[in-house]
Amino acid sequence: MIDLSTTYLGLTLKNPLVASASPLSKKVEQVKRLEEAGIAAVVMYSLFEEQIIHESLELDHNLTRGTESFAEALTYLPDAGTYSLLPDRYVANVEKLKKSVRIPVIGSLNGVSKGGWTRYARLIQNAGADALELNLYFIQTDSAVSAQELEDSQVDLVADIKSSIKIPLAVKLSPFYTSLPHFVKRLAATGVDGLVLFNRFYQPDFDIEELNISHTLDLSSSSELRLPLCWIAMLHGHFNVDFALTSGVHSAIDVLKAMMAGAKVSMMASELLHSGVDSVSNILAELQTWMETHEYTSIKQMQGSMSQKAVAEPSAFERANYMKVLSSFQDLP
Ligand SMILES: Cc1cc2nc3c(=O)[nH]c(=O)nc-3n(C[C@H](O)[C@H](O)[C@H](O)COP(=O)(O)O)c2cc1C
Repeated sequence: MIDLSTTYLGLTLKNPLVASASPLSKKVEQVKRLEEAGIAAVVMYSLFEEQIIHESLELDHNLTRGTESFAEALTYLPDAGTYSLLPDRYVANVEKLKKSVRIPVIGSLNGVSKGGWTRYARLIQNAGADALELNLYFIQTDSAVSAQELEDSQVDLVADIKSSIKIPLAVKLSPFYTSLPHFVKRLAATGVDGLVLFNRFYQPDFDIEELNISHTLDLSSSSELRLPLCWIAMLHGHFNVDFALTSGVHSAIDVLKAMMAGAKVSMMASELLHSGVDSVSNILAELQTWMETHEYTSIKQMQGSMSQKAVAEPSAFERANYMKVLSSFQDLP
């Protein structure tokens, strides 16, 4: 009997496949289909700091337009009575999803600065979310801001949100920190429960005919797995946080690699969007077959077995490996 179960953020999951934040969680029906196919948990699409701030500014504008009286001002609201604010709709969707499926539902906030918008962490918690993921997607373009200042402000934000909720908190990071282990140590010290490695960096492309910047989203491929795989392997066992691997998980082999690196769960978005929910049951079946063939009895048994701490050649993860990799290229004409 093979035990596929794992734990993540204090939750016991029946297997390590988690649907990461994507439009799939916008429809309850889709999440139900994912659940039927065997997914162990779902991270909801994100509610953005910008959306919350925009909606509250708009509400403020509507409420104060032409009058100082709140009661009167309410009549100015478009579609009075049925008017539903986007952030509040998000919270209502968390509640709806929780009522519709049995798997854990992880809410997702996407933002970078401290402010009133972070109250949505508690609102998502109160709506029944089992945990919260905070996505720190940010591109620093201001040369006046140092790496230290940027990291200080992100650690502050994480600590602020962590102290405002009782449910577990995971933080989704980009790979672009000067000293990632040091930053991870600081985040771990806030008491954060998990780290999700990594955000994909969505680079705009150029349309050189129209001289426009074009924004297209290409789905990932398994080749993108190596970056989070390598970092999770290096960070595993050093900090009291759970690691989730996101970016490039498309097959059972990818999931196995993620587990061996030391991830507690492997998250998928592109694969589910591209191949549909059936890929969950296919991956689970392949996982089971591979483990049987290789005489593994549980997922827990393999977690971290290929981490830097566990392998015979730890330098394979470091600079020492660089020359070896370059010289391994044999394909010259
Ligand atoms: C269409 C689409 C929408 C996404 N929306 C979100 C989002 O709202 N919040 C978030 O944190 N990540 C979002 N992501 C990122 C995914 O959760 C995931 O981290 C990323 O796509 C890498 O995983 P993958 O290789 O399995 O696609 C989105 C990805 C896609 C493809």
